[in-house]
Amino acid sequence: MQLAGQIAVVTGGAHGIGRALCRRFAAEGAASIVVADRNLAAAEQVAAEINGVAIECDVSQEASVQSLVNQTLAEYGRIDLFASNAGVTVKGGVEVPDPQWQWLWDVNLMAHVYAARAVLPSMIERGHGYLLQTSSAAGLLTEIGSAAYAVTKHAAVGLAEWLAVRYRKQGIRVSCLCPAGVVTDFLDLDDPVHQFLHMSAVTPEELMDNVIAGLASEKFLIVSHPEVEEFFQFKSTRYDDFLRNFSKVHDKIERARNQPSRPPRERDGV
Ligand SMILES: NC(=O)c1ccc[n+]([C@@H]2O[C@H](COP(=O)([O-])OP(=O)(O)OC[C@H]3O[C@@H](n4cnc5c(N)ncnc54)[C@H](O)[C@@H]3O)[C@@H](O)[C@H]2O)c1
Repeated sequence: MQLAGQIAVVTGGAHGIGRALCRRFAAEGAASIVVADRNLAAAEQVAAEINGVAIECDVSQEASVQSLVNQTLAEYGRIDLFASNAGVTVKGGVEVPDPQWQWLWDVNLMAHVYAARAVLPSMIERGHGYLLQTSSAAGLLTEIGSAAYAVTKHAAVGLAEWLAVRYRKQGIRVSCLCPAGVVTDFLDLDDPVHQFLHMSAVTPEELMDNVIAGLASEKFLIVSHPEVEEFFQFKSTRYDDFLRNFSKVHDKIERARNQPSRPPRERDGV
């Protein structure tokens, strides 16, 4: 897909990766961009900058996503690209309370289900449409600091794969964006796992080159760092070694947590 002349919707468009998607889609000549976010004031700022439209949307609520799609279709008659990008995290393992697990399920997985449910009928009717779904490298590998994030992002990859397989013949294309560290507010620099990611993090603008190239070639998996695909291959061919390797990284990060002056080094790899 080339962005020129397209109508795009970006959720989580007010900040970080979503804002970079909005700006870059505009620079590529998109006809209009709907900046959707739960933070309407910030979405309006981005929309004003790119001559787009801001719509308040909480992607964890199906009615809100449906309304976003209905409003966009009423305004433009079509949605060519739906970038389902908003995502959240919480630190911790299985002890994290159910309401926080549920929050991550709703935002990191169900939002993509709601988006597909709402937008696919009109795309299928027209015979084409593109879903860009932001998961994470954590959805291919894991995320040491957050069980709920790792699991819900794996689920998001699973959904994107399923949609790509199921709707290909109807002209629907799907890309799954799986970045490792990207410099946004999402990274909590007080947290050793995020400090580790930050050491090799790319900027959202750098990530956009990969997104635009991935969309142009209709590539399913779009990553931020070549290492993500290398580790993914390592996982698929040497699963037990992969798990042992990650376990060692976990131990190093835990040691660093207890000795904050000695963060894990980038060459430790994940
Ligand atoms: N930054 C990274 O290192 C990184 C790495 C891998 C994947 N990701 C993923 O990239 C996506 C974007 O993350 P980011 O780094 O830009 O984060 P960010 O925190 O900078 O921006 C997230 C945006 O999503 C919005 N949002 C959150 N919950 C929402 C909801 N329920 N409804 C609507 N909008 C909501 C926020 O208001 C914010 O504008 C997320 O899915 C995240 O999991 C980020």
